[in-house]
Amino acid sequence: MARQSGKQGSRGGGRTGRSSEPAPEAQKSWQARFSQPADALTVGFVESLSFDRRLWRHDIAGSIAHAEMLAATGLISAADGRAIVRGLRAVAADIEAGRFVWDPTCEDIHMAVESALIQRIGEPGRRLHTARSRNDQVALDLRLYVRDAIDTSILPGLEDLQRALVDMAGRYVDAVMPSYTHMQRAQPISAAACLLCYVEQFQRDRERFLDARRRVNLCPLGAGALAGSTLPIDRRAVARRLGFAGICRNSIDATGDRDFITEFLAAAALCGVHLSRLAEDWILYASQEFGFITIADAFCTGSSMMPQKRNPDVLELIRGKTARIFAALTGMVTLTKGLPQAYNRDLQEDKIHLFAAHDTLDASLRAAAAVVRHTRFNTARLTEATRRGFLDATVLAEYLVGRGVPFRRAHQIVGRLVALAERDGRELGDLSPEEMQAACDRIGPDVRQWLGADNVVRRYRSEGNAGTVSAAAQLRYWRRTLGMTRRRKR
Ligand code: ARG
Repeated sequence: MARQSGKQGSRGGGRTGRSSEPAPEAQKSWQARFSQPADALTVGFVESLSFDRRLWRHDIAGSIAHAEMLAATGLISAADGRAIVRGLRAVAADIEAGRFVWDPTCEDIHMAVESALIQRIGEPGRRLHTARSRNDQVALDLRLYVRDAIDTSILPGLEDLQRALVDMAGRYVDAVMPSYTHMQRAQPISAAACLLCYVEQFQRDRERFLDARRRVNLCPLGAGALAGSTLPIDRRAVARRLGFAGICRNSIDATGDRDFITEFLAAAALCGVHLSRLAEDWILYASQEFGFITIADAFCTGSSMMPQKRNPDVLELIRGKTARIFAALTGMVTLTKGLPQAYNRDLQEDKIHLFAAHDTLDASLRAAAAVVRHTRFNTARLTEATRRGFLDATVLAEYLVGRGVPFRRAHQIVGRLVALAERDGRELGDLSPEEMQAACDRIGPDVRQWLGADNVVRRYRSEGNAGTVSAAAQLRYWRRTLGMTRRRKR
């Protein structure tokens, strides 16, 4: 892939410009109208090859579809079309095998691939860019990339994490733990319900990515620089070849639109929020103060100074790395908010944000699934924790409602009983029948079957409740939905 800069070797610093025959592609494809070669600083500043080269698969796939369309419509000969496709496949093979020499003077992935093609097959290669601009080309590459990211990394990652949580939930349907609001003990719940709460959040994330995908999956190619082309191209044929559901309707919008990236980042940000909240919960649960869960050693790290430490660093970094995703979303809306209509070079920066967020989310989803698979509840600690904190107070009030007491009155009665018990460190179950009767004569001896966390979790009736029976039903729903009833994939 050696290429000469030709002009005084001024570009690409240190490049020798030695050449027997200065080929036109030694210059940038847009160089003809310029009287001076680009300044080295300019070259380095405007290039994107250093980061957009990871779009190579998508760029080549797009070019192959474009070439096939050009040949099918007769805009290029069938022989040229075949030569281009063969040449592009050979370039792809070179890149795949690590043989491709990335020339930093090539500016971006589009020019790197095109000039490699021309070097390889000569004249027919110069016909590939017919009725195409890098503006619609990069929009296409990005849409293919985002679609791929959703299909092959984010959705499978989310689903895998859900499966890990459902698997874990299956082991703890009968484990009872305290729930919290305001970080104060609230009501007893099945530990499985606690886990399935996260599964719901990740389900909404999946739906959001799938919804965003509908707007990603439209083909911008053929929009040209922004106004389309006078040549009789077949945009729908290209769209079909690339598996798009349709084409972008307006050529100006097609080149200037990056909403599909912003939407991806917004969905990623919300998914990051969910990962971060899960991480925060589990960091707390893993603390000695809670002691609710134990994360396997392989997912913890030690301290360089304190020999006893066992820190939940993977969870902390899942929480911490979400900042990168939020930064990417902020970066993307900031990047686009002041842009005039159609393509502006600022948009080149979109990839920085997209790739950073995608890499971070992909890694965090994998890490989260791994942690979940290597974490267990300490059920003895859970049980112990459900003994204190008046977790059955609400249910006692509901018991009274069942005996005709208006809820507001029942709330007061139980409030007084809680205060009475609290005075000498007792729980509601420790109160004598006389004390109960004194507070309200509707309280009978059957109240025993309502008090205590184990009774409570079996008494919830409302649909979707966090008790044992409902958690088991939810678990069945998720096993069915995630196809886990027989055998799991991935
Ligand atoms: N590298 C550019 C980008 O990523 C490709 C499009 C350049 N278009 C142009 N007219 N300069 O956005």
